[in-house]
Amino acid sequence: MHADVTGIAYLIAAICFIMALRGLSSPETARRGNAIGIAGMVIAVATTLADPGVVSFELIAAGVVIGGAIGTVIALRIQMTALPQLVAAFHSLVGLAAVAVATAAFYAPEAYGIGTVGDIKTASLIEMAIGTAVGAVTFTGSVVAFAKLQGLVSGAPLVFKGQHPLNAGLGAVLVLLVVWLCLAEAPAAYWLIVILSLALGFLIIVPIGGADMPVVISMLNSYSGWAACGIGFTLSNTLLIITGALVGSSGAILSYIMCRGMNRSFFSVILGGFGVEGGQAAGGDDERHVKAGSAEDAAFVLKNASKVIVVPGYGMAVAQAQHALREMCDTLKGQGIDIAYAIHPVAGRMPGHMNVLLAEASVPYDEVFELEDINNEFAAADVAYVIGANDVTNPAAKTDAESPIFGMPILEVEKASTVLFVKRSLASGYAGVDNELFYRDNTMMLFDDAKKMTEEIVQAL
Ligand code: TAP
Repeated sequence: MHADVTGIAYLIAAICFIMALRGLSSPETARRGNAIGIAGMVIAVATTLADPGVVSFELIAAGVVIGGAIGTVIALRIQMTALPQLVAAFHSLVGLAAVAVATAAFYAPEAYGIGTVGDIKTASLIEMAIGTAVGAVTFTGSVVAFAKLQGLVSGAPLVFKGQHPLNAGLGAVLVLLVVWLCLAEAPAAYWLIVILSLALGFLIIVPIGGADMPVVISMLNSYSGWAACGIGFTLSNTLLIITGALVGSSGAILSYIMCRGMNRSFFSVILGGFGVEGGQAAGGDDERHVKAGSAEDAAFVLKNASKVIVVPGYGMAVAQAQHALREMCDTLKGQGIDIAYAIHPVAGRMPGHMNVLLAEASVPYDEVFELEDINNEFAAADVAYVIGANDVTNPAAKTDAESPIFGMPILEVEKASTVLFVKRSLASGYAGVDNELFYRDNTMMLFDDAKKMTEEIVQAL
């Protein structure tokens, strides 16, 4: 295919990817965004296949068939709750691919048009070194993230003395190795870059607490984008450069948004150590009075309300209670009760986690509100139905300067006349802090699995 035609086709594909990202920013346009992204990918793949430089269609076909088959089986089998580790596993492959491409370019530079063995262009050596380093960091980092999320190793942060100076030292040695590679083109320099980067990826991710993993995943997503971008430079493929940069920067922006939603600095996440694994028993004195209710009690309170605000959280995702929840809300709406859903920016464990689940259960978008748009409504609500959410409602974020969640904006559920908390126990959530709302007079605890309790409420209604 003529180079100009290839260039134009790649440009169209790149525009499709940008429009796809735009579409994915809202649930209403997400499907269209996905469709445009698929169209862009079809154009990109077709254009690449039409390149006269293709050496073996058979090998490409074999890769597509084998990889595609494995991907399809995994995608069909995967549980929603296991998505984070799946994403981590896939990122590790992108990292590995970057290392493989850079290594191929180092040993067969003629094939890439970047010089001959022993005489590779300096710019290409720098690109190659950066590509392979980012790729190797992404690979081991993602493997550690996968192992933590899958429960193969403890999700607890592994912190040891001298960790940060060690990482900084490794980073400095890497820079020196890149200089050595550029000056001498020594294979030893190349392989040392690979080995040290593999070690660095491991060391960067082990100190991060299991609960901070979502930020890590989006960070690794960003790294994998930059690794792909590096491959793009090695292969002189403009589309891969653009796509890699899009993934790299959107991953970085996502990490930033998550950190802001949790009121944590990006560096404090990277430096690790925050968050507990699973729920912990609430601290404080156990003498405090807790009002517990049954599904019938909850149904009675809900039936007598005229305005109910639903606050979903991580527990709803664990219990997969979204369908039962929508059924309950439909029943209430049928009785003339006003329903709204309030979404905290970091409810659950992934950005947009709650929006995806509610959309899956066909909750109408116009009933779903962001924190800023609904927080003033709680005072006028009769019931706040908090289903599997905890931290995102905890007033300690406003009142306790010592609390790890201090400063995080929260959904002010306590302003509703009655707060119903559906959860299994008094255990804390992600941040590991006690929630004093459980002990308030206007709170009724509904101790059970979120799905089971909601289904029972539907029955009782
Ligand atoms: P959490 O504060 O983590 O609370 C979830 C609650 O769900 C737990 O207290 C747990 O209590 C309950 N639960 C678990 N399984 C349940 C089940 N089967 N049925 C009913 N309840 C169940 O969740 P949240 O309010 O959604 O807050 C999210 C937290 O995650 C925030 O601290 C946020 O900073 C953090 N975080 C979020 C993200 C993103 S991007 N969303 C990323 C990183 C961190 P029981 O054990 O008593 O049932």
